[in-house]
Amino acid sequence: MDDLIARLDAADRLPGADELRSRSYDLLGAGPGASAVDVGCGAGRAVAELTERGVKAVGVDPSERMIAVARGRWPGADFRIAGAYDLPLADASVDGYRADKVSTNWPNRSGR
Ligand SMILES: C[S@@+](CC[C@H](N)C(=O)[O-])C[C@H]1O[C@@H](n2cnc3c(N)ncnc32)[C@H](O)[C@@H]1O
Repeated sequence: MDDLIARLDAADRLPGADELRSRSYDLLGAGPGASAVDVGCGAGRAVAELTERGVKAVGVDPSERMIAVARGRWPGADFRIAGAYDLPLADASVDGYRADKVSTNWPNRSGR
C-alpha cells in the first residue's frame, strides 16, 4: 500500500495535476457550504483541498492504511473506513460525489 501511496504522490506532482483536481472540484460545484464525498480517497489530498474550499468533505476508503495516512497528513479533515458499496452516509445527505482513479478496483456487483 505504501508503494501505491508513493506512486499517487508522484502523480499528484505531475505538471497539470493541481489544475486537473481543481477543475474537478469546479465541475462538482463544490463551493463553500456544499458537501461532498470522495470515494476511494486514498491518502486524502482531494478531501483536504475541498475542506480548504469550505466544502463539508468526507473521504472514504476501505483501506485502513490509506485512512491512517490520510488522517496523519490532514488532521482537520473527515476520513472514514468504508467502501463504495457501504458508504457511511444517509441517502441524499451530500451534494456531490467524486471518485478519482478508483472505479477499476470495484467488483462488478451485477455479475455481468
Ligand atoms: C489508485 S487509488 C486512488 C486514490 C485517490 N482517489 C487518488 O486519486 O489519489 C484507489 C483507491 O481506491 C480504494 N478502493 C479500492 N476498492 C474500493 C472500493 N470498493 N470502494 C472505495 N474505494 C476503494 C483503494 O483503497 C485506494 O485507496
